[in-house]
Amino acid sequence: MQGQRIDVASEKPYPVFLGVTLENLGEYLATRIGMGEHLLVVTHPNIAELYLDSLKKGLPSFRVDTLIVPQGEEEKSLERISELTSAAIAYGADRKTVVLALGGGVIGDLAGFFASMFMRGMRYVQIPTTLLAMVDSSIGGKVAVNHPAGKNLLGDFYPPLAVWTDFSTLETLPWEEMLNGLAETVKHAVIADEELLSFVERHAQDIKARKPELYKELASRSSAVKVKLVSEDETEQGKRMFLNFGHSFGHALEAEMAYQGITHGQGVSIGMVAATHLAQERGLMSNAEVQRLINLLKSFGLPVSIKGKNPQTLIDLMGADKKNYQGQKVLVLPKGIGQAIVVRDAKDEEIMRAWKKVIK
Ligand SMILES: NC(=O)c1ccc[n+]([C@@H]2O[C@H](COP(=O)([O-])OP(=O)(O)OC[C@H]3O[C@@H](n4cnc5c(N)ncnc54)[C@H](O)[C@@H]3O)[C@@H](O)[C@H]2O)c1
Repeated sequence: MQGQRIDVASEKPYPVFLGVTLENLGEYLATRIGMGEHLLVVTHPNIAELYLDSLKKGLPSFRVDTLIVPQGEEEKSLERISELTSAAIAYGADRKTVVLALGGGVIGDLAGFFASMFMRGMRYVQIPTTLLAMVDSSIGGKVAVNHPAGKNLLGDFYPPLAVWTDFSTLETLPWEEMLNGLAETVKHAVIADEELLSFVERHAQDIKARKPELYKELASRSSAVKVKLVSEDETEQGKRMFLNFGHSFGHALEAEMAYQGITHGQGVSIGMVAATHLAQERGLMSNAEVQRLINLLKSFGLPVSIKGKNPQTLIDLMGADKKNYQGQKVLVLPKGIGQAIVVRDAKDEEIMRAWKKVIK
């Protein structure tokens, strides 16, 4: 089998395969779970149209059924879990059935959570088809659905059997979806891998030109950061929290805009700049390092500021972040490029100054 394998240390360790093909998954599964097992593919209609045939081509020795879920974040719901349960029962699924989550983070989170609940848990494979899912959501075992009271409120740490990443699926991904994954990649670089940041800077033009070879390299390096952090801290008690860099600010912005007119990548981009300004004020970043981040984000067309927002409203929204601890806002700040720290003593006044730097 071609491609690269990185192992994630976990209570239940699992491999992340990078640069493999959808057609070859069957070969791997035959050795891992044995031939003839029941597989349930969970995917979106557009992804089914593009990639289901390729996936199924490699699965002739399995019994394969497919559950199609409409696109959209709102599909991460308990209602959808209930519908998947009915459909799985109708297909004769049992605890030995293996779920194949073919899609982006929505499918990965939903199908993974479904797998964790159905008959008290069945195995599942993450098959990410967005850059964000490849470098971020498919790795680390977090699965969840949303609740009217908040995003990802119902979930679990439930490691997959494996992550199976075929980079060629990126060829059909719209650019604005690619940007969501690029924002997370810049985040990985700033918190843990200065070389990755230099790589992205050096190749920004070719990344925009969507050269496949570059995406292989970029996604492999970016995934490696996530693998390292979740391997060291599976349940987010320490270093895994670094992955929240830019997200406390970004989530507040997304929530204030009711998730309309702003993508997750745009929120994270502005959020990283705000957090970096706060880090600079604390002497953790130089002016040149702040500028380096801003220039890189701008070169991809990611926003580094926003108009007409009320900073106090955003601070109030940050107060509702589920990562906060005992009423104190928990923030991740970069320390130079390539390191990060978690701070629990940020005063609202300094958070206000950071917001004001990105509100025009
Ligand atoms: N579990 C985690 O650790 C974790 C981490 C980060 C984000 N998330 C979750 O991930 C979700 C966002 O994931 P996402 O950004 O991948 O969005 P997504 O899953 O909604 O996918 C974005 C869009 O791209 C389409 N698409 C996917 N692959 C395609 C391809 N190869 N070609 C063409 N179109 C394709 C999808 O159908 C969808 O319309 C959120 O729900 C978020 O909460 C989870």
